[in-house]
Amino acid sequence: MSRRGALVAAGLPVAVVALLASAAGPAAAGTAGSPGVNDPYFPLAGNGGYHVKHYDLTLGYDPGTRHLDGRAVITARSTQQLNRFNLDLNGLKVTSITVDQATATFSRDGQELVVTPRKSIAKDREFRAVVTYGGIPQPVTDPDGSLDGWIPTDDGAFVAGEPQGAMTWFPANNHPKDKASYDFTVTVPQGRSAVANGVFLGQTTSGGRTTFRWRQSEPMAAYLATATVGTFKVEQYTTPGGLKVYNAVDPREAAASAPVLKKLPSVLDWESKIFGPYPFRAAGAIVDHAPKVGYALETQSRPVYDRAPDLSTLVHESAHQWFGDSVSLTTWKDIWLNEGFATYAEWLYDEQHGGQTAQKTFDDLYATPADDELWSFAPADPGSGEHIFEAPVYSRGAMALQKLRQAVGDKTFFRILRTWATDNRDGHGTTAQFIRLAERESGKNLDALFHTWIGTAGKPSQP
Ligand code: ARG
Ligand code: ZN
Repeated sequence: MSRRGALVAAGLPVAVVALLASAAGPAAAGTAGSPGVNDPYFPLAGNGGYHVKHYDLTLGYDPGTRHLDGRAVITARSTQQLNRFNLDLNGLKVTSITVDQATATFSRDGQELVVTPRKSIAKDREFRAVVTYGGIPQPVTDPDGSLDGWIPTDDGAFVAGEPQGAMTWFPANNHPKDKASYDFTVTVPQGRSAVANGVFLGQTTSGGRTTFRWRQSEPMAAYLATATVGTFKVEQYTTPGGLKVYNAVDPREAAASAPVLKKLPSVLDWESKIFGPYPFRAAGAIVDHAPKVGYALETQSRPVYDRAPDLSTLVHESAHQWFGDSVSLTTWKDIWLNEGFATYAEWLYDEQHGGQTAQKTFDDLYATPADDELWSFAPADPGSGEHIFEAPVYSRGAMALQKLRQAVGDKTFFRILRTWATDNRDGHGTTAQFIRLAERESGKNLDALFHTWIGTAGKPSQP
């Protein structure tokens, strides 16, 4: 057990142990970056003391042996003097680390990769860490039992990292608070494709291996990164609006997904009219055949689906490009800002495409009995990482938006949604900020409404 582990086991709270470690360790107090960013649900997610500007990831994957080779060039800026700092990396073997070209020493402690540069880094300095690593990635099991991260499939890997899994395939400041741009260079056996985020820069084949290059220029949270590998049918086109679309589809899912994927440009167009301009320069979909996964993820610019999606799922993951990807969480507790909004987009899509109204969807849900899990906790307070993907977050979160719409009227409601996406584009938002925006735009005091609909467990007595 590590020293830190031993102290935690001895009954000291993690925060106290962190304090002791920095006071008593080789680094003087205040000069070690913290091992987390104080997220109550995932205390070790992310790291303090610096912000990453850019990840340049060079990967090689062999689906046969499941071996991944990696080299991460991380360009970051210190926010304090740093004698050492942490990255998140779970499993895999690190073979070398340099910081500004000087060999650094490092140690491992669970998901924490602790890096000690040869020379301490001054405050407000840009620095570059190069981490060389490899091994067989192991997905993490989330508190709710789902698999997350680099998940092997029969022909490659389904790669999706919400909330924790980025650290299963690259060293990261693994919290949505810290967004960065990305370059990916991924080499796989000829015949397979490696599909990542952003714009496709090209591919080259030599010696039986193909290298794919991708660039995600707009800032992205680590959990939204992907480098999904498989045998894919690829389709590329540019929309009349200039959006570069790249779809990669497992042939086993091709027939079922074709009619839905054809609608992607019109769905994004429809969402742009409601939420404001689409926030990224690229778009697309990765439709894998990954029966073990059980979910889709809104990987930035190019969601990844574990099977052919239905239209509602496509609308949902597309809406996340605004709500969750462009406007990021600052704490996992606020997850309803992602899932409630993406679910509400599904309701709106139905309403505006000949289906039932959002009010009817609300009414149907309100009819669920009071002991249903829908009412089991407050959407804005799932209580722990175990519950962040459950019905109160998704459906009841969307119900709260319908209540807001009732209270302020359509015109103001749609202005609130659009302003939220536009004002926080490529940035962050919190629940408190959303409430403030809604009150400002409507000129109404909405405390009671939000208290009832997102702040209180149990079925509200009035619909
Ligand atoms: N955000 C995804 C969605 O669109 C769900 C991700 C679930 N992740 C997980 N590890 N269970 O709803
Ligand atoms: Zn979602």
